[in-house]
Order: sequence, then C-alpha cells, then structure tokens
Amino acid sequence: MSSTDWETRYQTGDMPWEKGAPSPGLVDFLAAHRDLTGETICVPGCGTGHDAREWAKAGFETFGFDIAPSAIALAQGTPVSDPARLKTTRQRAGSETGVPMRLKFRLADFLRDEPPFLFDWIFEHTLFCAIDPGERELYVQAVLRWLKPGGDYLAVNYLIPDREGPPFGTTREELIERFAPHFSLLSEWVPRSYPNRTGLELMMWWRKK
Ligand SMILES: C[S@@+](CC[C@H](N)C(=O)[O-])C[C@H]1O[C@@H](n2cnc3c(N)ncnc32)[C@H](O)[C@@H]1O
Repeated sequence: MSSTDWETRYQTGDMPWEKGAPSPGLVDFLAAHRDLTGETICVPGCGTGHDAREWAKAGFETFGFDIAPSAIALAQGTPVSDPARLKTTRQRAGSETGVPMRLKFRLADFLRDEPPFLFDWIFEHTLFCAIDPGERELYVQAVLRWLKPGGDYLAVNYLIPDREGPPFGTTREELIERFAPHFSLLSEWVPRSYPNRTGLELMMWWRKK
C-alpha cells in the first residue's frame, strides 16, 4: 500500500485496526517492567498514537511516526480535512489528559527515511503486517538503521495465515529467520490481546547485536 492509500483510509474512516486503546500486551509489559533502561522510544506506524502515549506515560521520550498525515493529525489531536467524520476517533485519540511534553508525532516513511537520531527502543505493533511482504527486508534494515547499537526492539507480532492483506500474515519461523541474524531474542510470550486477536499475537523482545 502506498502512503496515499493509508491517507485515504484515514480520510474515509476505513480503520478496522483502530481499537481506541493501546495494545494490551504493551500495557502489561510496561506494568511488569517499571525499571527498563533507555530513554527514547520510536513507535513506527503509530496510527492515532495509543501505544506511543503509553510509552510516554511510562516515562520515555517518545516519538510516534506515521506515513499518513491524517494519522499524525489524529495523534496530535489537531483537525483533519473532514473533522465531523473523524470526530469520534479524534476525541478518543486526544482525550487523555496530562500527556507529557515528551511525546511527539512526526510524518515519516519508516522504511525509507533516515531517523532524526538513533533510538534506545523501537516498538512494533501492526506495521510489519501492514506493509507489503516484499518490503520485509527493508523493514528489518529500517529497524537496524533507526536503533542504537545494543538497542531493544519490542514487537507485538500478528500471527495470521492471510496472504491477501493488509494485514499480511507471518509465522514465528519467518520472524526468527529475519531477525535472529541481527538481534538476540531476550524473551517471547503470548500476550493478552484485543478480543478479536486473542491467541493470534506473539510478543518478542529482541536486543540488537
Ligand atoms: C494497521 S495500521 C496500525 C496503526 C497502529 N500501529 C495501531 O496498531 O493502531 C498501520 C499504520 O502504519 C502506517 N504505515 C504504513 N506504512 C508506513 C511506513 N512505511 N512508514 C510509516 N508508517 C507507515 C499506516 O499509515 C498506518 O497508520
């Protein structure tokens, strides 16, 4: 899908991935690990920003990036071209009070752009499954390019069989094959999920070699 397609989906409200809440697996991870090292986190393909806000609340200097201008507008709580149609989502996206200044949203093509600086952490949630499978090597190279040496890559992977997408399916085997040459796997587990994804997600916590 091109950036234009993603923008159109936000403009028309065709956003079945939008759950109005952060990934339950991320919420549980941050609650269980209150002493994480590192200060900066990159959330690529951040959408309306629920996950990014969760990292910011946990004390990280947080940057959400998305290729669709309307996603960034929604994440920032600023108007898009048809405010009436997107009102509900915008209110949800911007409804949390006390979101600290350490949260920023920026327009970027994660696969092709250079990072503004190297991050301590990258958090993946439904970007890997959203891109064309032919771009997955580009994705792995982007994670390597945007992350500091020794940085952490935390992923909520979506293990579905679908070949027509997005979302495009993957397997644990493919993820190991792609990431293990460059990262050490610290742990993996099946997280708590949104109701319609229960049992279909696998979280992996990798450290860049
Ligand atoms: C399925 S949505 C998931 C959004 C969010 N992560 C969530 O779970 O609610 C995929 C997101 O990735 C964005 N995206 C697609 N390709 C991208 C790219 N190359 N760089 C940055 N964002 C991209 C889309 O605009 C969209 O917001």
